[in-house]
Amino acid sequence: NETIYILAIESSCDDTSAAVLKDRKVLSNIVSTQKIHEEYGGVVPELASRAHQQNIVPVVHQALATANIDKKLVSAIAFTRGPGLMGSLLVGTSFAKSLSLGLGIPLIEVNHMQAHILAHFIEDGKSTPPSFPFLAMTISGGHTQIVQVNDYFDMEILGQTLDDAVGEAFDKSAKLMGLPYPGGPLVDKYAQLGNPLAFDFPRPKVEGLNFSFSGLKTSILYFIQRETKKNPNFIKEHLNDLCASIQHTIIAILMDKLEKAVKQTGIKEVAIGGGVSANSGIRSTLEKMEITMGWRTYIPKFEYCTDNAAMIGIVGYLKYKKSEFSNQRISAKARYYL
Ligand code: KG4
Ligand code: ZN
Repeated sequence: NETIYILAIESSCDDTSAAVLKDRKVLSNIVSTQKIHEEYGGVVPELASRAHQQNIVPVVHQALATANIDKKLVSAIAFTRGPGLMGSLLVGTSFAKSLSLGLGIPLIEVNHMQAHILAHFIEDGKSTPPSFPFLAMTISGGHTQIVQVNDYFDMEILGQTLDDAVGEAFDKSAKLMGLPYPGGPLVDKYAQLGNPLAFDFPRPKVEGLNFSFSGLKTSILYFIQRETKKNPNFIKEHLNDLCASIQHTIIAILMDKLEKAVKQTGIKEVAIGGGVSANSGIRSTLEKMEITMGWRTYIPKFEYCTDNAAMIGIVGYLKYKKSEFSNQRISAKARYYL
């Protein structure tokens, strides 16, 4: 029973990350978040790939140094093949291929969306992983989907967003209120001081388990414009209530679909992941479902929710055990479905 060491690399969006795993345990998980996008109010792809190019070598060095293992011990290199921004993915992909060639060890490609879900199987000494089959809702700045997970590599998308991701709904609403990017965490913060029922925003009518968030943004925009015409200080005077009401609406939209998914499948094992699962309102609403609906719910540690290489590493480990390796002709894939 050999010990498996995986060096993992993630560069799909605006975070450059490298991690070292010893079997299912994380020895290091370094994330370098690119600050440059803040002043543009969103991720600028061209700038993201340049920053990855600058960050990747120091981040990998730091991951190895923190793990405190000799790189000769590394069993395989895992990397994010997609989905994501092409220019960003190419940096991690090329780097992983070169490293695998240089060290003479196997290369393992990883689907970023699978990784968000399989992050639940990282051993952190505290949480227990969900048991199969379970429902996984991945909510972040780039993704919103509900997936039925029958086994590690047997997943089926039940529903997903038809337009904006839920993180974008938070960030774009925040921008309308003049908050800096990314505004999601700020909306969460002010929402805790406000009345969630102060303002009523319409919920989209979308069939099945799919989502739509672009209409919400538009109705918030019109509402704010209308109120600001009457009172120029409207946003300032009602920021907490605005944030609380917007967050309340977003949570209601998410929970409605999640409840439908549970009803439809009969599966009461419910896991969430992605950066938006940091939201305190979502966390407490989900926890309540344990009591009111008899669900068992799972939320990974925050550092494994946002984009990180440790989640790429756990998929690398699971694929290594199946000897599922990639060859040197592999290339990045911007649109890469589950
Ligand atoms: O997973 P992530 O780090 O990157 C992507 O893959 O997109 O998610 C980032 C998203 C951003 O939209 C950010 O505003 C949102 O997660 N976010 C939050 C909170 N923390 C992060 N949204 C609401 N409440 C939070 N506490
Ligand atoms: Zn992600």
